Amino acid sequence: MLVTNKEVLSVASAGGYAVGAFNINNMEILQAIVETATEEKSPIIVSASPSAIKYAGLEYLTAMVKAAAKTSSIPMTLHLDHGKDIETATMCINGGFTSVMIDGSHLDFEENIAMTKHVVELARSKGVSVEAELGKLVSQESTAQDAEDPYTDPDAAVEFVDRTGVDALAVAIGTSHGAYKFKGDVKLDFERLKVIRSKVDIPLVLHGASGVPSWIVEKATKYGAELSGAKGIPDEHITQAISLGIAKINIDTDLRLAFTGSVREVLATSPKVFDPRKILGPAKENMKKVVQEKMRLFGSSGKAP
Ligand code: G3H
Ligand code: 13P
Ligand code: ZN
Repeated sequence: MLVTNKEVLSVASAGGYAVGAFNINNMEILQAIVETATEEKSPIIVSASPSAIKYAGLEYLTAMVKAAAKTSSIPMTLHLDHGKDIETATMCINGGFTSVMIDGSHLDFEENIAMTKHVVELARSKGVSVEAELGKLVSQESTAQDAEDPYTDPDAAVEFVDRTGVDALAVAIGTSHGAYKFKGDVKLDFERLKVIRSKVDIPLVLHGASGVPSWIVEKATKYGAELSGAKGIPDEHITQAISLGIAKINIDTDLRLAFTGSVREVLATSPKVFDPRKILGPAKENMKKVVQEKMRLFGSSGKAP
């Protein structure tokens, strides 16, 4: 069943759990997410980035997600991840997405507001939800060099939400994209998240939330991946973030690591295999383990009506 982010996130916020937003780039990733969600009875947000759209094609992606929504009764959304401009958001709003992220975090405050407001107006007429981002997701190393505070300012968040009318807000509290999130200790600004939550009452979003779990890294490394220094967000930090109001959690890197670890294993241990189904099938199963762990960690298992 295809629904909007606004629908799944308002229920999650009220229920004190978070919904996973998992990035897709091909059929096996989508099937891993949808099959696990169906088994776990969990709502899901299926995310497609502009580069995923470029890779797979908008028509293919929307058709696959519509097919998935027909075969499963769990609430699922099709969400644009990190739409950087009005054109991309418009294409997805008109193309069948039920939610779009307009990411103006690279712009200055007023420009971010203007672009976000524009997309909210376009989306409203089609019943599509909108997520925006305030603050920057930077790695630990770049934070140190950056004179300006990259994290979300709570008062600016209040003004941003009031003036744009967005349905969900991505906040910057120290997470970052990819497999190398911290050089030293894991540090997230939970005090700031607490203040934002006390002032902003729409669902909050955590990007860059992959855990880079050791079981995935060990498997990938065993079969030749070079991942030294990889570090993600520990589970207990995710639990704390949810308790402080995070209702949508974005995961891509952990799926990529699970995919590559499994493909490497098959190629390394079965040199005679050249049937793509025998290579991608196990990769799907490995990604399903990741998705199941996340749904249980986020508290979304069993929450689909
Ligand atoms: O935010 C980043 C997501 O992991 C998507 O990455 O732009 O390579 O598809 P991508
Ligand atoms: P990770 O790289 O931590 O998986 O974050 C993904 C993300 O935020 C997609 O928008
Ligand atoms: Zn992101």
